[in-house]
Amino acid sequence: MNVLITGGAGYIGSHCSRYFLEKGVDVTILDDLSEGHREAVKGGELVVGDCGDGALLDRLFSEKSYDAVVHFAAFTSVGESVAEPRKYFHNNVENMLTLLNAAVDHHIGYFVFSSSAAVFGEPVSLPIREDHVLDPINPYGETKMIGERMLADYERAYGLHSCSFRYFNAAGDSEDSSIGESHHPETHLIPLVIQAALGKRPPLTVFGTDYDTRDGSCIRDYVHVEDLASAHYLGLRYIMEHNVSEQFNLGSETGFTVLEIIRAFEKVTGIAVPHTLGARRAGDPAMLVAGNEKAKRLLGWEPAKSDLETILTDAYHWEMKRTY
Ligand code: UFG
Repeated sequence: MNVLITGGAGYIGSHCSRYFLEKGVDVTILDDLSEGHREAVKGGELVVGDCGDGALLDRLFSEKSYDAVVHFAAFTSVGESVAEPRKYFHNNVENMLTLLNAAVDHHIGYFVFSSSAAVFGEPVSLPIREDHVLDPINPYGETKMIGERMLADYERAYGLHSCSFRYFNAAGDSEDSSIGESHHPETHLIPLVIQAALGKRPPLTVFGTDYDTRDGSCIRDYVHVEDLASAHYLGLRYIMEHNVSEQFNLGSETGFTVLEIIRAFEKVTGIAVPHTLGARRAGDPAMLVAGNEKAKRLLGWEPAKSDLETILTDAYHWEMKRTY
């Protein structure tokens, strides 16, 4: 099976690419390396380029017959999307449209899409199941919702079958520490906790302790990046077998507060996490927890590594050994 993986040098894309390679898939990675890392590519062919470059896509799709596209390439920072929506609509919507058009022009039948829990906005019921209303509260979430809607229309009109995954909080790193999370600047909680503990940055600020949660800090559902990788493989197999389109929420169905993450890291490693209690960050919902029954039932997916101890241990090892 030949698969084109856009953004395959990024955090989630690189773990997914490696998983597909291990399963014997012939992988071509298309990544402009604006956020991705050459060192994160552990096999297959790397094409350095833009997934919105129609001429490049025409060339790639003419040179080899692809069975599917797995689309990770996107900007992913909520705060930045509020400040610079044009950047997000250009990359996440316009470039995706170019990619979709190239895929249908070249008769590629299957598309796996990296969506986000951000499509739901403020939850009205928990855990958040797939049929929860889509009501994004920032441009990033809007771009992902538009991506899902384009896919629904492209299936109706052109027969392109797709699988969209709404990730909750992707976390952890490869067990062997050869690939991992590396954002510049880093804004995600778990790497910041670890870097603060190791003295690589100033004390962590806990964003808000007056939420209506068990200790006042925000609750999130952390899902191991290697579990996300297995879901993409199972999802692609599923839509190819059944010729359907589906959406899945990917999380562990368990929520932890920010303060619980800090305490869990201290327990796992014995290293104190210097932190201060600060004000809320704009746009943070109090609680996001995924319902994952659909992915378990239809795909046979198990979030096998998404317990907090495994996530924090793998993230800690990556931080100690990271090469990029
Ligand atoms: N947090 C802190 N201090 C920090 C950083 C984060 O207290 O220095 C808190 C946040 O307020 C939040 C939790 O830690 O409560 C997790 O924050 P992250 O920034 O790690 O992740 P988010 O939940 O904000 O965002 C994630 C993904 C987004 C996606 C979003 C969906 O990173 O791409 O979930 O809601 F859009």
